[in-house]
Amino acid sequence: MLMVLPLCAQAPQTAPPGAPPVGGKAAPHVFKNLQLLKPEEIHEAMHAFRTALGVECTFCHIQGDFASDENHHKLVARKMIELVRSINPQFPDGKEHVACYTCHRGAKEPLMAPPPAQ
Ligand code: HEC
Ligand code: HEC
Repeated sequence: MLMVLPLCAQAPQTAPPGAPPVGGKAAPHVFKNLQLLKPEEIHEAMHAFRTALGVECTFCHIQGDFASDENHHKLVARKMIELVRSINPQFPDGKEHVACYTCHRGAKEPLMAPPPAQ
């Protein structure tokens, strides 16, 4: 395995460290590296991601540093957030129908066809 260099460790921050969270509402944490989600969405989103893929937090995060982008799966997950955001506005009823679980159903790799009958 090649060492993955922390190329993205200096990714843009939504707020300087120590600044109050955007929106003014009392958030439990100050996040350092949010590029797509809002601080108030993090708690619910992270539990939804875990359930949708059937994984632990460390599938996407390196131990002890949730802000780090060193885990490649976190970068894939960002792409997936963008994918979901591009799909939903296309439904004719204007409602949200697609979430991570819609495709993943508790698995890391969604299936393209039903599994063979047992
Ligand atoms: C499927 C991948 C995935 C899983 C599983 C996951 N996360 Fe995340 N997490 C992300 C992504 C992607 C972001 C960055 C979102 C953004 O850029 O807006 C993030 C951001 C965060 C942040 C914000 C860090 C910062 O300072 O910027 C925290 C805290 C966090 N996750 C905690 C958790 C916890 C706790 C769990 C387990 C319950 C978890 N995550 C599971 C993908 C994941
Ligand atoms: C339209 C179907 C679809 C939706 C919706 C979707 N995914 Fe995925 N996802 C896939 C497919 C297909 C793959 C496997 C191909 C790949 O890795 O790019 C995948 C792979 C992944 C992987 C890499 C897994 C691995 O084993 O390396 C992560 C992480 C992930 N998705 C996170 C998410 C998250 C988080 C969401 C919700 C924000 C989401 N996905 C929504 C289809 C989807």
